Amino acid sequence: MIYKKLKTYAPERMGFVYVGILMALLAAGLSVASYYYLYRFLRKVIVDVDMTGAVPLAMDVVIFLIANALVYFLALWSTHILAFRLETNLKKQGLRHLMNASFSFYDKNESGRVRKIMDDNTALTHSSVAHLIPDLTTAVFAPLLGIALAFYVDWRIGLLFTVSFLSGILFIRKMMGDQNFMNQYMAASDKMNSGAVEYVRGIHVLKIFKTSLQSLKEFYRSVTEYADLALKYSMSCRSWYVFFQVFYNAVFLVALFFGYGSGDDPRVQLCKFLFYALFNGILYMALNKVMYVGMYTYQASACIEKIEKLFSEMDEKKLSTGQRETMEGSSIEFQDVTFGYEDQKVIKHFSLKLEEGKTYALVGASGSGKSTLVKLISGFYQLDDGHILIDGHDLSEYTEGALAQNIANVFQDVKLFKKSIYENVRMGRPDSSRQEVMEALHLAQCDEILNKLEKGEDTLIGARGVHLSGGEVQRIAIARAILKDAKIIILDEASAAADPENEYELQLAFANLMKKKTVIMIAHRLSSITGVDEILVIDDGKLVERGSHSELMAHNSVYQKLQEDFMQANEWRVRE
Ligand SMILES: Nc1ncnc2c1ncn2[C@@H]1O[C@H](COP(=O)(O)OP(=O)(O)OP(=O)(O)O)[C@@H](O)[C@H]1O
Ligand SMILES: [Mg+2]
Repeated sequence: MIYKKLKTYAPERMGFVYVGILMALLAAGLSVASYYYLYRFLRKVIVDVDMTGAVPLAMDVVIFLIANALVYFLALWSTHILAFRLETNLKKQGLRHLMNASFSFYDKNESGRVRKIMDDNTALTHSSVAHLIPDLTTAVFAPLLGIALAFYVDWRIGLLFTVSFLSGILFIRKMMGDQNFMNQYMAASDKMNSGAVEYVRGIHVLKIFKTSLQSLKEFYRSVTEYADLALKYSMSCRSWYVFFQVFYNAVFLVALFFGYGSGDDPRVQLCKFLFYALFNGILYMALNKVMYVGMYTYQASACIEKIEKLFSEMDEKKLSTGQRETMEGSSIEFQDVTFGYEDQKVIKHFSLKLEEGKTYALVGASGSGKSTLVKLISGFYQLDDGHILIDGHDLSEYTEGALAQNIANVFQDVKLFKKSIYENVRMGRPDSSRQEVMEALHLAQCDEILNKLEKGEDTLIGARGVHLSGGEVQRIAIARAILKDAKIIILDEASAAADPENEYELQLAFANLMKKKTVIMIAHRLSSITGVDEILVIDDGKLVERGSHSELMAHNSVYQKLQEDFMQANEWRVRE
């Protein structure tokens, strides 16, 4: 299974698998060979008492040991090259999937979590794959060759090794427990880790509200759950582990009896015994490797599985795009559109026609679906039912680039990048000149913001000491949208940004942006929308009223009620 994954994710480095196996195989042979010379050395010294003849044999032992170390190093080297490539490729694939991921994916997954899954798992995959291949080869071949050598020395030692190796494997299997348990353990560890991340992220909120207990409890529970499982696991290994250790040492005793009853020359017996005692180590080492191989295999496949699960989440609800590269007109039509982020529908059988070049305002209670509607126009989500047409063509006929180029968004929750203000604005149209960028900043009423900052438009967003209010951030985003010069403008005004000082500047900025465009604005300050061509009143995902300000105010309408509420709220604010 790992092999198959390697072939999928690092096909160009598969040669290193074979080099790694070959080198590890050679290393196993070299290490067993060094023991062969060791045995001959012992016989020369103890049985023949020939010191001069023993020296070259001792040299052989050393040479083979050094060669073994070198070759094993080469084996690890080549598997690391493979593993690094695997990690790089997995990360690249992750980025590729992220670029194409649907908005639903970004809604559901915090960037921190995604990054953690990618980073942690690719790193673990890397280390387990790098060690898995040489270890597995050694674990299989060192005992095989070793046992063959043992039979050569004395068939009884060979037999003893065979028995002890096989029972060692049995003990290890028992000790490792079943896979289910391992899955639970990994899940508990993940939960604890993500709990810790969340806790650290939320600390400032906890501090403000001083309600630390509830969230602490969750985190605390995940820690104790993990501790319990870890303890349970260790305890379940305990007896088998003790058994394993005692067995390995007890085998020594058995060996003594062997020697005792063999009838060999005592000096030969001594040689065989010393060989046995030293050689037992190689077997013990191989068994340990078997243990690690189990762990590495499990780890590597679990990690790749997690990464692949993330990939498939990224691919879910992906939008289909078409071939149409240009957008001639900018009329917008909703045809019986139904949409929900999850099962619950947020937009219900929504139909609407918006004419080119006009300005529309969407109003409605919080949560009525205004932001959702404009996100749908931008083509961020797949509709559950119905169609949205721009200039008479279904959204899905346009290329991603065509939509991005012709629709400019200034959302409620504008995000600026960690770049200079200038760079942030220039992203609207990357080929624009400095003068054009400055002009856009000027039209968006940003001069005052720039003057306030020491480095002006070259100020780095997010740098120390640079604090911009919500309204100021939105003005910079408007500059970006102005520069983009798109056919359709969508403004989702942030209610939080509606401080009175900003209001006037924002209005001017909007006015400059909206010239000769099809504009849809969502306004929370109803005072600011009286001048639009048409007001659309949304309630619970449906269009309930449309008309000009005066038309809607003329009769007992939902809009009138909204206006009254807004006035009242304003009054409260004034009184306060
Ligand atoms: N990413 C999302 N995932 C799941 N549900 C969402 C998501 N975004 C919004 N919703 C839900 O969809 C409904 C409509 O939300 P929407 O943001 O469109 O309202 P809105 O009219 O813009 O409200 P507001 O005036 O407060 O900005 C709400 O019930 C909201 O909880
Ligand atoms: Mg909204």
